Amino acid sequence: MSASHSECVPAGTYSIRSDQKGSLKAYLGTCVGVVLLDRISHVGGLMHLLLPEPPSPDNPWQPESYASTGLPIFIEALAAAGAQIDRLEAFVAGGALTGRLSETDLFLDIGGRTTDVVMDVLRRYGIAVKRSETGGLFNMVIEVAFAVGDCSIEPMVAAPAASDSNAKKPSREEIIQAAARIRAVPQVALKIIRMISDDYHSMIDIAAEVRQDQVISARVLSLANSAMIGWNDTIDSVDEALMVLGEKAILRLVVSASMELFFPESERGYSQCKGRLFHHAIGVGLVAEQLARVTGKSDPGVAYTAGLLHDIGKVVLDHFVAENIPLFYRLTRSGTVGLERAETEILGIGHSEAGSMLTSLWHLPGNLIEAISYHHTPEKAPSEHKLASIVCLADFLVSRFWVNREMEHHGTFEITALLDLLELSPDQIPAIVDSIAWHALSGDLNIRHEDF
Ligand SMILES: [Fe+2]
Ligand SMILES: [Fe+2]
Repeated sequence: MSASHSECVPAGTYSIRSDQKGSLKAYLGTCVGVVLLDRISHVGGLMHLLLPEPPSPDNPWQPESYASTGLPIFIEALAAAGAQIDRLEAFVAGGALTGRLSETDLFLDIGGRTTDVVMDVLRRYGIAVKRSETGGLFNMVIEVAFAVGDCSIEPMVAAPAASDSNAKKPSREEIIQAAARIRAVPQVALKIIRMISDDYHSMIDIAAEVRQDQVISARVLSLANSAMIGWNDTIDSVDEALMVLGEKAILRLVVSASMELFFPESERGYSQCKGRLFHHAIGVGLVAEQLARVTGKSDPGVAYTAGLLHDIGKVVLDHFVAENIPLFYRLTRSGTVGLERAETEILGIGHSEAGSMLTSLWHLPGNLIEAISYHHTPEKAPSEHKLASIVCLADFLVSRFWVNREMEHHGTFEITALLDLLELSPDQIPAIVDSIAWHALSGDLNIRHEDF
């Protein structure tokens, strides 16, 4: 199936079809997905909503992100495409409350309120709700297939192909060997990571290094021209990228590009889709950077790098996870056992520790190693709990608002304690979610839509 046939609708956007071909789908955590279909005119579409209403009603930045402002825009656009509003049928899904309820009231509240506003708007327009699967314990996928004129809503829990596993638990020695065997990260990336951490940048040296490495130069340009960066004109050279995007953005791009070269070897266990670990890494990096800016608790460049690298231990463990997929599936599918605990039970080591092992071999700065080691338990970090907390919250927000077909790993979570560590109040979260360009995260990073 080509990308144009099966389209994944990113958060904060909608898509409309009138050709009775292909399908639209959205992966939903806290977000709410709304499918509207006119079966006579064959006009229909899917909208992926992030929040109930804009944090500041006067000036919604992305009106399509909110149920109160976005849904009317979607309905009017369907009408303009030939749908008759009183013939529309609605299918609504999402607003999940994965995790322990007492700890996720905030997200329950966001998802629940988004659903309430959706229902209000539909009622106002006199649109009948044919099916609604909201709340619930699992992330959901909603998909509308235009060729058959139907909409499906399913929990996003993919059973593994194999029924059981005979794989043995790897020894500590085998895991250390796996870390040592992993392809070396390009030296330019390590140099830049250290420079960002020390706040010492020599752009002349960096640009010279990048120019010498053709593979990294090519990836830097490809990322610079991706939707994620959002620059309108084409950027043709590393020097031009430096000029138009600035020093900090270039540092970020070089590190990201180097890591992208590193990630693809690893995708058999944690994610069945090539590119997913890297895509998640970029998402957490960008959100961590934004959280550092909002809270002032860390340097944004350091936070981006820590976010980009937080799950690097998965690269070490991926092979062992792949051999034990049925066991992981059984342990994590209930949503009560987090991934780290499942890893420790099945493999004897979690990906945080494996990441700390790997980045110590690379001699990364101590603040980054600590943030990676404690990104699931920031309260235990000896000295870098703020950076680890930023990464942890970024990871959590990405898992709630930018859902992928990956193994869920925030089964239990002390969200309240985490907000306390960052001195954030729960009512600041919607504005933070609002400030992140989620739709851009779904831009072209060499990941085809049918991979989602
Ligand atoms: Fe993690
Ligand atoms: Fe993560």
